[in-house]
Amino acid sequence: MEKILILDFGSQFTQLIARRVRELNVYCEIHPYNRCPEPDASVRGVILSGSPCSVRDAQAPVPDLTRIKGRLPLLGVCYGAQYLAAAYGGEVKAAPSREYGRAMLTVGDASDPLMAGLPQTTQVWMSHGDTITSVPANYRLIAGTKDVPVAAFRVEGEQTWGIQFHPEVYHSTDGTQLLRNFVVGICGCAQSWTPDSFVESTVRDLREKLGDDKVVLGLSGGVDSTVAAVLLHRAIGSNLHCIFVDSGLLRKNEFEEVLASYRGMGLNVKGVNAAAKFLGDLAGVSDPERKRKIIGRDFVEVFNEEAQQLTDVRWLAQGTIYPDVIESCSVNGPSATIKSHHNVGGLPEKMNLRIVEPLRLLFKDEVRRVGRSLGISEQLIGRHPFPGPGLAIRILGDITPEKVEILQNVDKIYIDALRAAGLYDKVWQAGAVLLPVKSVGVMGDERTYESCVALRAVTSTDGMTADWVHLPYEFLADVSNEIINKVRGVNRVVYDISSKPPATIEWE
Ligand code: XMP
Repeated sequence: MEKILILDFGSQFTQLIARRVRELNVYCEIHPYNRCPEPDASVRGVILSGSPCSVRDAQAPVPDLTRIKGRLPLLGVCYGAQYLAAAYGGEVKAAPSREYGRAMLTVGDASDPLMAGLPQTTQVWMSHGDTITSVPANYRLIAGTKDVPVAAFRVEGEQTWGIQFHPEVYHSTDGTQLLRNFVVGICGCAQSWTPDSFVESTVRDLREKLGDDKVVLGLSGGVDSTVAAVLLHRAIGSNLHCIFVDSGLLRKNEFEEVLASYRGMGLNVKGVNAAAKFLGDLAGVSDPERKRKIIGRDFVEVFNEEAQQLTDVRWLAQGTIYPDVIESCSVNGPSATIKSHHNVGGLPEKMNLRIVEPLRLLFKDEVRRVGRSLGISEQLIGRHPFPGPGLAIRILGDITPEKVEILQNVDKIYIDALRAAGLYDKVWQAGAVLLPVKSVGVMGDERTYESCVALRAVTSTDGMTADWVHLPYEFLADVSNEIINKVRGVNRVVYDISSKPPATIEWE
């Protein structure tokens, strides 16, 4: 499979470069700059990412490009470009003022293949404190801005380019065209990495790898585990055994509905109702981190108990996705850290299981595209993210079955209303929070003293940052009325208008 390698110098935008390349249906991999695999015949080109470091720092990251530069097409972005200038005889200095934000790029050499099809002037996004002040003699300038004359260069006689702006960010209007020029025009990639081709090759590989072995997988109702299950099911059919645990902390009717749709897809799935265990163990617990620990532990116990009843299982499947497995590049030194996987604790060793992760090459948006290609319903694919600990972290303070029921009823009214108003798909995540606050109200002639719920709706791309959604007042008014009229125990509804940061999406 042909691919592009992206060497990571720790930029916040590195994953975005990879996503943009993947959107062009070209497969790419991110590696820390100091652990680049030996480029084999499948590598068509290399991209050097940006970095929070300066090439002028004594500890600046230095890649080994001996097998790359001059041999394979190479594109340096921002720090990558500054490195290509500074390391080969050019000069990089602190910019007189930080070059940050929008700038207008003027193409100086329209015949250069990296600039093909770009308008003469185009908006680009800059984000750097350093600037290239001179380039080596064999470097030719091909584009500049008012403040940055060396915005793009080409190394004469080799397939090496550098750009001091970020083509991967949305604000670089023709950034996708520039990346297409590199990966398709220059590197010659065939753009054959599509959801359909992924499904075809993964199913083939899974069949080969798993043979007649049995596999166990925990379903959560979320997109990742669902897509992983359907992919495995297509490869090995009923040798895939799925376990779906009801913690009693899911949305109203969710366990039954999702279980039914799993069965409708032909999955071999066992539903396990463990609500009493979870709610029993959580009784009297208010601390959010203790709640999370108890839920994590209970989940592992229930899952392990079920899995051990299956005979001859050889593999544990997980819905791990690419952002979980990318080695993050530490900017404070050469050591790299690997993010922990969502392993089901202890089970692999205890049952002597091997791990299979069919989605480990995919970003979240690609998981959705693959899910659609597998024919999974939009209802399942388009679902909002839902936290593993479920409603437990949306009930502030201690948890009781009564509080769970109140919150489930509130949440259902809210989510159903979002769907009915055509707002559900415009929101990244929505939910309701039961506050540990009682306040005075009047209903009819009576004074009430009941609970308050907060509604939350945010837009986001990855949950790292989020903004609150400006839901229409009329919509909020109707939902508030319906909740207070229909849900006993609630007499006040508020709407959360905090963004992340400084707030978080969940309240706990
Ligand atoms: P925060 O509250 O940190 O949430 O802004 C960001 C995203 O992560 C989800 N979330 C969790 N997911 N286990 C999970 O699986 C958790 O303990 C957890 N806490 C928060 C949250 O719903 C949002 O999508």
